[in-house]
Amino acid sequence: MRPTIAIIIGSTRPGRQGANVARWVLENASARDDAAFEIIDLVEADLPPLDEAMPPAAGRYTHRHTIAWARTIERFDGYIFVTPEYNHGYPGSLKNALDRVYAEWNNKSAGFVAYGVDGGVRAVEQLRQVVGTLKLADVTPQVSLNMNRDFADFINFTPRAHQSTALTAMLDEVIDWAAALHPLRQRASKVG
Ligand SMILES: Cc1cc2nc3c(=O)[nH]c(=O)nc-3n(C[C@H](O)[C@H](O)[C@H](O)COP(=O)(O)O)c2cc1C
Repeated sequence: MRPTIAIIIGSTRPGRQGANVARWVLENASARDDAAFEIIDLVEADLPPLDEAMPPAAGRYTHRHTIAWARTIERFDGYIFVTPEYNHGYPGSLKNALDRVYAEWNNKSAGFVAYGVDGGVRAVEQLRQVVGTLKLADVTPQVSLNMNRDFADFINFTPRAHQSTALTAMLDEVIDWAAALHPLRQRASKVG
């Protein structure tokens, strides 16, 4: 199978770097022919704080925005989370997006592109802890962009050459694992 992979922009603030980083991921990824890629923007998803009465694992979504988000997430075989580090964690906008649905994430792959003064590594460690609960298989290679070295004057995103190599290593595994987990997704859709 040829997986379809979402590149999810985790930050939502005006002037965010997340959109620039996601564009760079898409530009690099689009040169490949072993998967298709699409950017998903949490600003466009416009999800309020969790407002569903039932836990998402029950799959009984009632609000239009939750159902739309579920339909978006279910279309993909794997995800690349583009995340900044906020106060040594990942943004609340991303946690809210993760928490809102459940089955739509299951048995798919996950990779991370993080940025921060220490490469956003603490945000990714927190994300790894959470995505496993959603039955997402997180790959080990990750991209850690340094605010001082990959963003000129802290603002202009100019990744160093080796970051593309790191991105390729991460994409390789996200695509492989998305394909490897395909039989589990098929089994789940037959049972459901
Ligand atoms: C609320 C907030 C908290 C931050 N905390 C951290 C932090 O703990 N570690 C870090 O490396 N950078 C931190 N930063 C700096 C961000 O890495 C930097 O502003 C980055 O551009 C934020 O991502 P965004 O532009 O996509 O919103 C913080 C920025 C904000 C807005």
